[in-house]
Amino acid sequence: MPEKKNCLFRAEKICKSFGAVRALADFDIVIEAGEIRGLVGENGSGKSTFSSIAAGIQKSDSGHMYLKGKEYRPDGTVDAVDHGVSMVVQEQGTITGISVAANIFFGKESMFVKHGILNTREMNRTAEKALKDIGVENIAPEQRTEKLSFEDRKLIELARALYTNPGLWIIDETTTALSLSGRDILYDLMRKVKESGSSVLFISHDIDEIMEMCDSLTILRDGVLTANLKKEEFNADKIRQLMIGRELSGHYYREDVDEHISEDVVLEMENVTAAGIKNATIKLHRGEVLGIGGLSDCGMHEVGKILYGLIPPQQGRVLKDGREEVKSASWAVRRNIAYVSKNRDQESMMPICSIRDNICLPSLRDMAKFGPVSVRKQKAMAETWSEKMEVKAASVSAYCNTLSGGNKQKVVLAKWLAKGADILILDCPTRGIDVGTKAAIYQLIETLKKEGKSILLISEELPELIGMSDRIILLKDGEVSGEFERSEGLSEAKLIQKMI
Ligand SMILES: Nc1ncnc2c1ncn2[C@@H]1O[C@H](COP(=O)(O)OP(=O)(O)OP(=O)(O)O)[C@@H](O)[C@H]1O
Ligand SMILES: [Mg+2]
Repeated sequence: MPEKKNCLFRAEKICKSFGAVRALADFDIVIEAGEIRGLVGENGSGKSTFSSIAAGIQKSDSGHMYLKGKEYRPDGTVDAVDHGVSMVVQEQGTITGISVAANIFFGKESMFVKHGILNTREMNRTAEKALKDIGVENIAPEQRTEKLSFEDRKLIELARALYTNPGLWIIDETTTALSLSGRDILYDLMRKVKESGSSVLFISHDIDEIMEMCDSLTILRDGVLTANLKKEEFNADKIRQLMIGRELSGHYYREDVDEHISEDVVLEMENVTAAGIKNATIKLHRGEVLGIGGLSDCGMHEVGKILYGLIPPQQGRVLKDGREEVKSASWAVRRNIAYVSKNRDQESMMPICSIRDNICLPSLRDMAKFGPVSVRKQKAMAETWSEKMEVKAASVSAYCNTLSGGNKQKVVLAKWLAKGADILILDCPTRGIDVGTKAAIYQLIETLKKEGKSILLISEELPELIGMSDRIILLKDGEVSGEFERSEGLSEAKLIQKMI
């Protein structure tokens, strides 16, 4: 078939299965030069599978791809990059143990080798420039990546993808890993790539963001193409319906205003100074949803870690029920405190273990109180909770590293619900979660609250904070900068004033 004049990339009848799971079935897509094309679909619908095939990370079972009219069969990611296709992956894509610069130029080190010697100074200098070019000045190129935050590592991935001036830049579910300022960097870069005549394939669960940024949109459902829309056809309800196959009924956020929060403080930090936090006092009450927000480096993620016993305070105290000092994370788990990290693969789950092992892990001690813990009991527990959370997988024996991003998150939440946690510290719990499941998680938070459980909701999504919290505490430069009660007139603008 002759290519249309403007066509940059075309995929035809792409199929990919993993055992019995059919991730993509006869998937077609055309990406024009100079466009930002969105790709949306529920968790597990095949978005990452397709983008990783296009970026040379894995191979399709059948089907063809074409770049500027020529057949394109990437043999690995380096080959894909050489062809001008570069991707920012959904999960963490930097390598630990090596420097920022080594990550940016991974596989391209030969650029800096002269007479068999790697010129590290030159590599660092070029890395600094690559970072500066994308508007990042606070990351030192010689630093090792494991010391950096999740967001900073994402920014390194952006720099790595862009220094090659890709013709097709694939961004898989990256915005939710970024704070507001990181997002602005990303959006600017996407616009620049488009203006230069190159193309972007943009995967996101945020429909508003998709409608704002994209020129056209491809929708996937269960590995099958359901629709292609042009910008003038964009309509949020229609997009959701095409993704899910039904109308999303009911409300999204909480609608009640609970004016009777218990006086009991279940978890608190009192004048705490610790890594990233200065003299902060934060109290979580029984039955309360307490939102914590702010800009990227404000310390909000540290608040979760301090309350869970992962970061010890240098000054001040962390108390459970106003009495007992929180000693460590394992101490916290035994007292039914749960923590969901923003950095899912590294801190929230065991990726090379099964769904069953992940869900049962925090409960094993409790289960063992009633005699030996049989595999049958574990399987029953895992099945109950993965069904409740609608985890999409062949069985609970599937390894978590084979799950889609959103399904991993469901497993992480399931393990704490199975444990019956009373206090839940949730750091960006809806990161990478599709609209349908997001609504389910919000309903879950509401139900947990009604059961008298207490929730600390750390979030970079202001509508989520406003929609779900009884009270919101904002941080700025590690200090508490504002506090708001749940009320009808609470706007994003009011929160932002206290954040910057
Ligand atoms: N390596 C693998 N082994 C087994 N199954 C896999 C593997 N990779 C993906 N799958 C399955 O293929 C399906 C599609 O997954 P994919 O990661 O492409 O979804 P996605 O649309 O990116 O979802 P999300 O929005 O949650 O990131 C899922 O059912 C997933 O479990
Ligand atoms: Mg994905």
